[in-house]
Amino acid sequence: MTSDSVPTLKGHWLWGNLKDFNADPLSFIESAARCGDLVRIRFGPMRGAFVNHPDHVCKVLAARSKAFRKPAVVKRALNDILGENIFTSNGDSWKRSRQALQPAFHLRHVERYTQIMQDCIERELRGWRAGAEVDLEAAMTRVTMRIIVKTMFDAELGDRADELTAVFTRLFHLAYRRMKLYALLPNWLTTKSNREVKRLSALVRDLLRSYIADWRAGKAGEASLLNLVLGAEEGAKMSDEQLINEAITIIGAGFETTAYTLVFTWLALMQNPAVEDRLYAEVDAVIGGRRLDLADVKALDYSMRAVKEALRLYPSAWGLSRSTLEPVEIAGSVLLRHSTVLVSPWTLARDPRWFPQPLRFDPDRFLPENARAIPHYAYIPFGGGGRTCLGSHFALMEAVIIIAAIAQRYHLLPLPGGATGVKSVAFTLRPNGHMRVKLLPRETSAAADPKPPARFPSRAMHTSTSPHCPYSGRIETNLGLGVA
Ligand code: HEM
Repeated sequence: MTSDSVPTLKGHWLWGNLKDFNADPLSFIESAARCGDLVRIRFGPMRGAFVNHPDHVCKVLAARSKAFRKPAVVKRALNDILGENIFTSNGDSWKRSRQALQPAFHLRHVERYTQIMQDCIERELRGWRAGAEVDLEAAMTRVTMRIIVKTMFDAELGDRADELTAVFTRLFHLAYRRMKLYALLPNWLTTKSNREVKRLSALVRDLLRSYIADWRAGKAGEASLLNLVLGAEEGAKMSDEQLINEAITIIGAGFETTAYTLVFTWLALMQNPAVEDRLYAEVDAVIGGRRLDLADVKALDYSMRAVKEALRLYPSAWGLSRSTLEPVEIAGSVLLRHSTVLVSPWTLARDPRWFPQPLRFDPDRFLPENARAIPHYAYIPFGGGGRTCLGSHFALMEAVIIIAAIAQRYHLLPLPGGATGVKSVAFTLRPNGHMRVKLLPRETSAAADPKPPARFPSRAMHTSTSPHCPYSGRIETNLGLGVA
């Protein structure tokens, strides 16, 4: 970077900031955000910048996006798992993928999946009973995995949902470990973890190949994302292997991010009884105890705002990275060619300049009249510009349907000894402890459960406001959320 006025984040003389970033990425980006809106960083020999102002972020993701690409390290870490795919590719290859896949994720298509999403959460809820304890992380990942596989291939995962989520989680964990070493070791080297990647990737690819074969043999139904992709001009040209690459990418990008958005939304609701009451009242008024339809999803305004607010405080994709293809001017300084640029939806959305009382969980920030005051690139849980998340409509709709279906039947009571903060695990944000909850029945229960207690006991356990630095919210007990 060519300006002395740009602060430098202190680091090791040789590794620069790589070790601190690897040790605790969230603490690292928080320290960088405290340093300024544009901060010089270095990962070993790779120079770079942390960018934390909406105007600068707009430049990186949108206004000057052609001058940036996904960093080579991301591709190197993932190439033997994903192959050539929309998430890691650049230039014309990315454009072809995006053109092939984007039409299938258009809102009008996504809306057709309301009933599938509803079926999948209802299948999960059949195993739930009032008074029982549930592992919310496992339940939400199972449901989101079932939904993405069913919508994409019209295939039923049956009892294999847990297994597939475990395989994906492990694969992306191994890929992230490669990134921590800057993917310097080639993937063909026969190390233990490379062999494991190979074995797990083969398992997933075989499964997806069989779904595609079923589809080509006319055994799968019409209403699948695959159908829509192959119906598009660019999509029709795709080989089965390309389809598999994109399908692994879409599953990988979509199931865990949405599952943890749901986990964090519940956590925030459990800690904010006033918000929770309003959400439950909305669900009762809009759907009561009957099965939900698309019109209901559209009417669940407050629930949607609660999910958006949870995504503000807990953006499951906490960091985005790019690399400069040419010198780029930002705030009077020039990022040299081949600079790594980091952007964080986490720090941007906890900045009091854009979000007054940032730790307060307040869905009404997203009322249209209030949302107008939020700078566009201060709230980017789905990224921004041309590479905005392909599945944002899908994820938001899915989250609202799942929250509503659970809220119809149960109150969730957090069990003692659970999460006290957040941590980053591989590419996503997670609670730093268990998220086991007890199911308390509701009066209007669709499952006709007995009457709930007059007062939801968790409220007493989770009512504190945190006056501390917004970036430190994650290390406090009860996740640093305030009471709305
Ligand atoms: C709440 C859930 C989700 C979150 C927070 C999320 C977040 C993101 C973010 C931040 C990006 C941009 C990455 C970057 O610019 O480097 C992205 C890209 C992407 N997401 Fe999502 N995502 C979610 C759900 C989904 C779902 C459900 C799908 C598919 C069904 C999906 C598919 C994709 C794809 C394919 C891309 C790559 C787009 C491109 O590079 O053109 N995501 N997502």
